[in-house]
Amino acid sequence: MENIHPIFDRLVQRPDRERLLQQQSKVLWLTGLSGSGKSTIAQYLERRLHNEGFLAQVLDGDNIRSGINNNLGFGEADRIENIRRIAEIAKLYLNSGIITINSFISPTIAIRQSVKNIVGAGDFLEIFIDAPLEVCEQRDVKGLYAKARKGEIRDFTGIDAPYEAPADPDLVLRTDELDISEAVDKLYGFLLQHIQLKEEI
Ligand code: ADX
Repeated sequence: MENIHPIFDRLVQRPDRERLLQQQSKVLWLTGLSGSGKSTIAQYLERRLHNEGFLAQVLDGDNIRSGINNNLGFGEADRIENIRRIAEIAKLYLNSGIITINSFISPTIAIRQSVKNIVGAGDFLEIFIDAPLEVCEQRDVKGLYAKARKGEIRDFTGIDAPYEAPADPDLVLRTDELDISEAVDKLYGFLLQHIQLKEEI
């Protein structure tokens, strides 16, 4: 032991960073079909949190897949690896005291359970961004449903690849019934109790 000099007591820990940032970090996980409104809600929530003095970062499928995960496709194994890497990234943010707003289809219960396992159940908040397939297909913001129907895209979630709704999500937002500001208000109200720093006694 003579030449060993543990430095753990000198490392900056997550609670130190949370105190600095005056918030509790969490991993907010938005799951739902393509076109359900995940990215829009994530962006509005990020702005709202920023305006209220919280440090939050959106991690989004289309961005992550054009960078760190640009070698992955949409077969089952690649989706699992996509989400595994994102969960590890979210965990790094978590330990930095930063709230992440994760916006990924993450289509199966098993995939989302794997995130929960990596991040830790106590820090993982699952939000179901719920809109019927017909509504998402009707919106078809990116024109991908039309392509999937024509067979130009394979393994498209909801068309020829599965989507399993969460069995017991922390919150459900019906985006066919709520407008964007109602959805964001509801989500912000829910999140607040989890991110406010508890008063020290
Ligand atoms: S996930 O299933 O692995 O979680 P992720 O959220 O990263 O998916 O990416 C989904 C985005 O990729 C969609 O919003 C859409 O723009 C695009 N995309 C391209 N091909 C597909 C496909 N086959 N299935 C689903 N989304 C696809």
